[in-house]
Amino acid sequence: MRITDFYSYKKPGPRISMVTAYDYTMASIAAESPADCVLVGDSLAMVMHGHPTTLAATPELMALHTSAVARAVKDKLLVADMPFLAVRKGLRHAMDAVELLSRAGAQAVKIEGVDGHAEIISHIVGSDVPVMGHIGLTPQSVNRLGGYAPQGRDEASAEKLVRQAAELERLGCFALVLECVPAPLAGRITSLLKIPVIGIGAGPHTDGQVLVLQDLLGMYPQAPSFVKKYLDGRALIGKALRDFDREVKEQVFPPAGKRKNEDNKDDKRLAPAPYGAGIRR
Ligand code: KIV
Repeated sequence: MRITDFYSYKKPGPRISMVTAYDYTMASIAAESPADCVLVGDSLAMVMHGHPTTLAATPELMALHTSAVARAVKDKLLVADMPFLAVRKGLRHAMDAVELLSRAGAQAVKIEGVDGHAEIISHIVGSDVPVMGHIGLTPQSVNRLGGYAPQGRDEASAEKLVRQAAELERLGCFALVLECVPAPLAGRITSLLKIPVIGIGAGPHTDGQVLVLQDLLGMYPQAPSFVKKYLDGRALIGKALRDFDREVKEQVFPPAGKRKNEDNKDDKRLAPAPYGAGIRR
């Protein structure tokens, strides 16, 4: 999917599926999947680095992970998050972060919130860097919000979200992530906007869904309750590690006796690579 395909994904078109990826190996699996879009989310601060919030992500850290993901994701839209404070320290700082992420391989950036940084969003869009908005539960605001509570549950906060969504469309965002809002409100915002709305914990009425890959694979222990686990990754990986440990201790692995590649002839890692090979798998 290219950015120009996004508008055809507005309902009643096909729904957009977006997954996060933070490293080359997982990104290569996402790249081979039919998922439409890959997000290098600042959730990597939690999922990859074990921080309690996303606030620890910096532009440099985002760029490092984005470049690893970009080496695997060639034919899908690759979006990277502008991390905590990246759009709040002035235009120069914001554009430096945009440049880092773009040079790392992101084709678009995602920005949380709009109030107070609308002009910066507009400048980024005007610089030909596509922007995906993100409102509702914005994890970078966790300290103001007092936790990860759903948003838009009373009339005033629902109306604020409707206004912010319209503002982001007006500023030129090509899509919007709507996180943890009641399903009817998500449906209302989706039908008000011309740009696709991608939901997370926002019910079934949006134009698409996004999930953190490690959440949907059942690998991250603190996944939000709305996540559907498509795999019990922790149990499967745990079993593989127990099997490995047992086989080492019982001296089952590696098997005794002369093996085909004992002299390393068949070990591809040691074979000389032909010129130019091994860059892309
Ligand atoms: O950081 C992230 O992974 C995100 C998605 C969950 C939308 O923003």
